[in-house]
Amino acid sequence: MGGYAHRPPPTADLPPTMPTRLTINGRPREVSADPATPLLWVLRDELNLTGTKFGCGMGACGACTVHLDGNAVQSCMVPVARAEGKRVTTIEGVTGDVAERVRRAWIGEDVAQCGYCQPGQIMSAVALLAATARPSDAEIDEAMRGNLCRCGTYQRIRRAIHRAAEVRADD
Ligand code: FES
Ligand code: FES
Repeated sequence: MGGYAHRPPPTADLPPTMPTRLTINGRPREVSADPATPLLWVLRDELNLTGTKFGCGMGACGACTVHLDGNAVQSCMVPVARAEGKRVTTIEGVTGDVAERVRRAWIGEDVAQCGYCQPGQIMSAVALLAATARPSDAEIDEAMRGNLCRCGTYQRIRRAIHRAAEVRADD
């Protein structure tokens, strides 16, 4: 496990770096952050996409989960340079049938309590269901084990994922 991904130190005394080209929620973006900056901080501080949360900064909580080319990743552990040329999707931009079913199921099961972990939970759930249409309990637990919830919503998350797997968006 790597070190903490708190904000990197100021780089004013370093030579400027080339902008990093990203595709964020379907839109091309150029960001000026140092290439080693965790994607999480670029999303939150440079692009103002604050739906992706900071929890631990060390890959241990899942609050910062986004999709990189459709796979769930912890954005605090991904240097922004590694996202260059890839599709980055955040909670603000996750769309489509699976995402819609997950949103409806989350509301139907009244999953959220404080809500802080929920963007990350939803991003992991969408990636799981996109890859595995009808996951078992064991598959859900495996896919979601990187996402912690201090409010203990785990049972409702599991029910919501089963519910999302069983209903169509237009039901
Ligand atoms: S903030 Fe990234 S895993 Fe906790
Ligand atoms: S709903 Fe509060 S931390 Fe998960």
